[in-house]
Amino acid sequence: MADLDQNTVTDAVIAQMASTTDPRLREVMESLVRHLHGFAREVKLTPTEWLAAIGFLTRVGQNCTPIRQEFILLSDTLGLSRLVNLMDDSANRVGDATETSLLGPFYREASPQYGYGESIAAHAKGPEMMLFGRVLNEAGEGVPDAIVEVWQTDADGAYDLQTNDPGVMDMRGQFRTDADGRYAIRTLIPLGYSIPMDGPVGELVRQQGRHGFRPAHIHMLIGAEGYRELVTALYLGDDAHIDSDTVFGVSESLIVRPQPGLDGSPAPELPSVRYDFRIARRAPHDTSARVGADPSKVAAQ
Ligand code: BEZ
Ligand code: FE
Repeated sequence: MADLDQNTVTDAVIAQMASTTDPRLREVMESLVRHLHGFAREVKLTPTEWLAAIGFLTRVGQNCTPIRQEFILLSDTLGLSRLVNLMDDSANRVGDATETSLLGPFYREASPQYGYGESIAAHAKGPEMMLFGRVLNEAGEGVPDAIVEVWQTDADGAYDLQTNDPGVMDMRGQFRTDADGRYAIRTLIPLGYSIPMDGPVGELVRQQGRHGFRPAHIHMLIGAEGYRELVTALYLGDDAHIDSDTVFGVSESLIVRPQPGLDGSPAPELPSVRYDFRIARRAPHDTSARVGADPSKVAAQ
């Protein structure tokens, strides 16, 4: 047996893993080991630092609950979630379909159903706005019967899961597009908010001198029979953190600016946003584009 040194140990690990039968698992693990070892060599990782990293990851796991996923938060703040989204978009986004954005940890299934132009503010109070437009296909035709799910913070920057009894749903809902693909959602103007900063990820973000805020946004999940599910969000352009989102979710094409008196608004007296979403036909190889909460966990709340 040859003695291992700090370079040959990498090949020894990869050689031992060569018996992996699943080719994708083998590819991913080989690359992971190469990069992880390369990283440790590059920064000359010390035993103390290695132990600190193990302690950090242990605390990340210990902070996970059915409604809090600290590992996803870590992925988000490292830009990994956005990178996965961007790569998925570039591989699967068709034509001028609307860009995607992070699902985030606050999505819940089975939110209340509302009719055209109804308000999703069942309890919360604050300045209102109207969001309306159409869901269109690649040919620019309205998609009827699309389900538009929306969720957002209230005017104080809090999601229902953070303020209410978990049995209560507020500032979220589902709308169904009409025969021309139209939707309209009356809501409150959301406030930007801090990601959860009371765990190990928040500690790291603070040590890095980062503010921890997300700019105000409205999450959308749009689905229709035969179409690729669209997970996206609209960002309010006047937010102070629009250019420095802690989780890197903002794209120029998703920035909106509510305006009073907007033509065609079902409530022109309110600041309104018209936004048409474009969805694309589902391809046979399509997998989920959701990068965020595990809905099977959140649904149970
Ligand atoms: C959100 O948009 O709700 C969110 C996304 C990532 C981390 C924390 C919150
Ligand atoms: Fe959010």
